[in-house]
Amino acid sequence: MTQLHTVNGDGNRYAQCIAASKRIRWDIEDDVIRGRHFDFNKKFLPDGLSKVGELNFLSEAEKRFISQIQGRTYANMFGLVERFICAKVIEVSHAHFLGDQVALEALVRFSDEELKHQELFRRLEGLAGEQMPAGYQFLPQPNDVAHVVLGKSTWAVLGLTLHIELFTQVHYKESIEPDEDLSELWKDVFLFHWKEESQHAIMDELEWVREDNKLSMTERDQAVNELIDLVVAVDGILQAQAKQDAEYFVANCERVFSSEELNTIRKTMLKAYRWQYIVSGVQVPRFGKVLSSLITAEQGERIGTALASIM
Ligand SMILES: [Fe+2]
Ligand SMILES: [Fe+2]
Repeated sequence: MTQLHTVNGDGNRYAQCIAASKRIRWDIEDDVIRGRHFDFNKKFLPDGLSKVGELNFLSEAEKRFISQIQGRTYANMFGLVERFICAKVIEVSHAHFLGDQVALEALVRFSDEELKHQELFRRLEGLAGEQMPAGYQFLPQPNDVAHVVLGKSTWAVLGLTLHIELFTQVHYKESIEPDEDLSELWKDVFLFHWKEESQHAIMDELEWVREDNKLSMTERDQAVNELIDLVVAVDGILQAQAKQDAEYFVANCERVFSSEELNTIRKTMLKAYRWQYIVSGVQVPRFGKVLSSLITAEQGERIGTALASIM
């Protein structure tokens, strides 16, 4: 194990998170939505995330429709995970109640931002529902998922949370920002979201390491198993939603697909979701660096073996 953090440096980092949070603070209506609607002549999710490039038998309009379905699910997925992230951040802030007031303020702002993000993603679901064909369903329920996730140890939940909040940033900077062909409103949502998520990932890491310092070897070993359980649970959600979204796509295309094409659509949808919500996050160097600083080589191998079936 290598040491990545110092106590003094941490106080500074919480203060920097507060300063950045105050500087970039935005409002859902006045800054992000501004009375706009989605432009359905444009894509939502970029090709690198949606994997539509692997569906060469589809027309450009059909590929665009897939990116819009996946983009709607993408917004809903963030609304989903923010339910448990917000609850966990409020919980870990308890440790600072009568301690570091700078850390407490940073975490209060973090949870407040996640409440705002959930409201933003509910607004987006309403806007998408007004313009897209009926029949779309986002299957997982935020509170059901939160009950399962929050039943695991804090170490496992913070690990999953850091992973999510790092891939959010990578998706925006590497795929969404450079793409000129996305719906302006959809793109702006993830610009504003990214601005606040940058601070969240820093705090996830600080809190994860702080939690890690409290654990015995046995507790950490159990927590590693729970992190694996959580990734497997995420994959279960992805399998169900990929199937649902593939069915919605096919039901709203004005043509019949061969059974081979149907199979490819379903497989590609799941591949895209696994890439978006699991694989791309695991590959963020910062995530690997922090994780490996906390666990043993054997525990790392255990995680690698569990991920192999998904990747
Ligand atoms: Fe968020
Ligand atoms: Fe966040």
